[in-house]
Amino acid sequence: MKDQWDFDTEVLNRGAYINGDTSTPETAPIYMTTAFNVEDLDALYERYANKDFCYNRNRNPNRRALGELMSYVENGEESVVCSSGMAAISTAVLAMANQNAKIVSSDTLYGETLEVFDDILKIYGVETTYVDFTNPDAVRNAVNDETTIVYTETVSNPMISVADIEKIAKIAHDHGALLIVDNTFVTAVGYRPLDHGADLVVNSLTKFANGHSDAVCGSVTGRSELMKKIYHFQILLGTTADPVSSWMVQRGMRTMSLRVERQMENAAKLAEFFHKSPYVRKAMHPSLESHPQHELALSMFGSGERCTGMLSIYLPEDMDKLQEFMRRLKLVHYAMTLGGFRTTIAHPVSSSHYDMPKEEREKIGITDGLLRISVGIENINDLVADFTHALEVYEEQ
Ligand SMILES: Cc1ncc(COP(=O)(O)O)c(C=O)c1O
Repeated sequence: MKDQWDFDTEVLNRGAYINGDTSTPETAPIYMTTAFNVEDLDALYERYANKDFCYNRNRNPNRRALGELMSYVENGEESVVCSSGMAAISTAVLAMANQNAKIVSSDTLYGETLEVFDDILKIYGVETTYVDFTNPDAVRNAVNDETTIVYTETVSNPMISVADIEKIAKIAHDHGALLIVDNTFVTAVGYRPLDHGADLVVNSLTKFANGHSDAVCGSVTGRSELMKKIYHFQILLGTTADPVSSWMVQRGMRTMSLRVERQMENAAKLAEFFHKSPYVRKAMHPSLESHPQHELALSMFGSGERCTGMLSIYLPEDMDKLQEFMRRLKLVHYAMTLGGFRTTIAHPVSSSHYDMPKEEREKIGITDGLLRISVGIENINDLVADFTHALEVYEEQ
């Protein structure tokens, strides 16, 4: 047997496996491989039995590491890490919705989540009833023994309303339904829905969790019995996150507490500033006494400075002035994302709720003057100065 192969062959094989102990790097490496080699079929079966790595879509070390981190922070037994927040939401909901399932959902959610219910699940006979989740009686009236899933966001996008997770979990469980909660706007730093009765928690890790606006990723966390089915669906639907995004989100999450605490604190201060501004028609943040769920938010999150890094404001419905306001901002930029370290603004009518008919979106308060603000970790005085200057546009006739 030759111990040297042709140059063209050697180039494919030299350095394929790393010599030396690689078990304790200070930072985990990125496993950019679609598969792991095995010596023979016995070794392959052993990997199956140990849930070891064979093929990337089924298992990857970076995805597994991030899953472990998510299970810890959300206090669940297991997690799956998905290619986006939407991948996490659709995988969880498809896995949990049986044929002709009935969903009771909050009427103010991220627009594309509503589209999963209306444009995908409906085709398969799944019916969704929308109600105002800030009113537990409305939820109680809508949920019955036929309900399969109750779905809400902890703090909703973009109306910043707060859902009473404990009450809603009780209503769902009284009727044998599962409660799925999207915790993207709050993160586990602010609130852990599983500790308060939710059965599954979904997160867009693209947002506050990663916090650097450079990776798209999502997760579902819950007890093993449910996660088993969700994992099975994930493999078949192919909604797994890639190794680089998984690694980047894991890195971003190392500083999640520091960032999110500061973002939440800045958001409360900025909300107070907008609340007092003569040019802002209304500011919405749970820290404000004027917010309809202020008391509930205090009881859920502990303090007004620990609610969410998101807030929304209504500006006068003059589109030219709104555009001028946006152009005047120097530090704050428009971005169709949220949760990053820099403060960004978005116009829900032109982005997350662009496809929703005008009458429907106006019914839930999404009007032309609504701006959603994702607050970053800047010095608060600089943020206030930037918004003060931009708001002066409304002073000019
Ligand atoms: C509350 C909420 N959930 C889910 C998503 C979807 O996340 P992704 O863009 O990572 O798919 C978003 C996106 O903005 C969101 O705001």
